[in-house]
Amino acid sequence: MKISSRTRVLVTGASGSLGWVLSGALASRCKVTGTYCSHQLVPDGVEGLELDLAGDPGCIGGVVASVKPDIIVHAAAVTDPDLCEHDVKTAFRVNFEATHELALAAAQRGARLVYLSTDLVFDGRRGNYSESDQPRPLSVYGMSKLRGEEGALTACPGALVARSTLIYGFGSPSSKTFLSKLLEVFCDGRRMQLFTDQRRNPILVEDLAEAIVCALKKDLTGIYHVGGSECASRYDFGKVVCRVFGFDEDLLVPVTMEDAVFPARRPQDATLNIARLVEATGFTPSGLLEGLTRARSGHSTQ
Ligand SMILES: NC(=O)c1ccc[n+]([C@@H]2O[C@H](COP(=O)([O-])OP(=O)(O)OC[C@H]3O[C@@H](n4cnc5c(N)ncnc54)[C@H](OP(=O)(O)O)[C@@H]3O)[C@@H](O)[C@H]2O)c1
Repeated sequence: MKISSRTRVLVTGASGSLGWVLSGALASRCKVTGTYCSHQLVPDGVEGLELDLAGDPGCIGGVVASVKPDIIVHAAAVTDPDLCEHDVKTAFRVNFEATHELALAAAQRGARLVYLSTDLVFDGRRGNYSESDQPRPLSVYGMSKLRGEEGALTACPGALVARSTLIYGFGSPSSKTFLSKLLEVFCDGRRMQLFTDQRRNPILVEDLAEAIVCALKKDLTGIYHVGGSECASRYDFGKVVCRVFGFDEDLLVPVTMEDAVFPARRPQDATLNIARLVEATGFTPSGLLEGLTRARSGHSTQ
């Protein structure tokens, strides 16, 4: 689909990491409305709209009817797996039911829908998952996002489900990515425990936004895996962060998932095979060194 100055885009979760970068990037090309919930923040050039997906179901259809979008990118979610474990009802309300309602409204309007999902739909026993592999979530978060995928594709069969993975970079002022949390700790001179035995393919937030735009331009539908080009543990990621941002590797404390107790179970190897995306769009997300160097070039740790 062609994205022109007349195209209207609704981005849910514009106050979050991905929503912020994507809505900000699109604002120079088309008319963008971005929703926020508890943080009243959207990038310059984006029209902000309050939307609580945990609230009255009718308001989702109301927002779509008033914005009249040609494209909806649904990035809003309860994204903290441990929080989801504590509040199962809200996790399913926001991540599944609200997604289904939004997809119904998108289908009714004939709008293109992109739903952001996660690598945590997999159990992590094997890794290098392709789109045809069977999801088996270990956590409430993973299950609620998987139901969200089903809700999106059932109500809106032409939807695109972009299964993403650990997002890094500098997104919105209110939402911290794994990288910004790490740098905050290092700048304080504190050490950080990092898993050596959980593998994912971290993706730079700008690359994720660009992959979504490429996928929209190619009219992709169905499920696509959208991760970075390199697989790594959080500990490996930390090493590249130290190298690029000039910190001592002594700040990294290697731990295994067994050493840490979290409410939500994490998959061991949730790495995504991104070949389908690369072939369909011609876009290859950065590896870690390149991605972190790009992140650094637009940011100061002082
Ligand atoms: N972060 C990752 O590493 C990762 C990995 C894989 C997949 N994903 C998926 O990618 C998408 C974007 O993630 P992200 O990291 O950019 O998210 P994020 O930074 O955690 O931001 C979440 C967004 O959702 C909004 N939100 C939360 N609860 C809401 C509610 N009840 N009603 C309406 N909006 C609500 C937040 O708004 P307020 O802040 O204004 O409340 C915020 O804009 C999500 O769908 C996530 O599941 C993320």
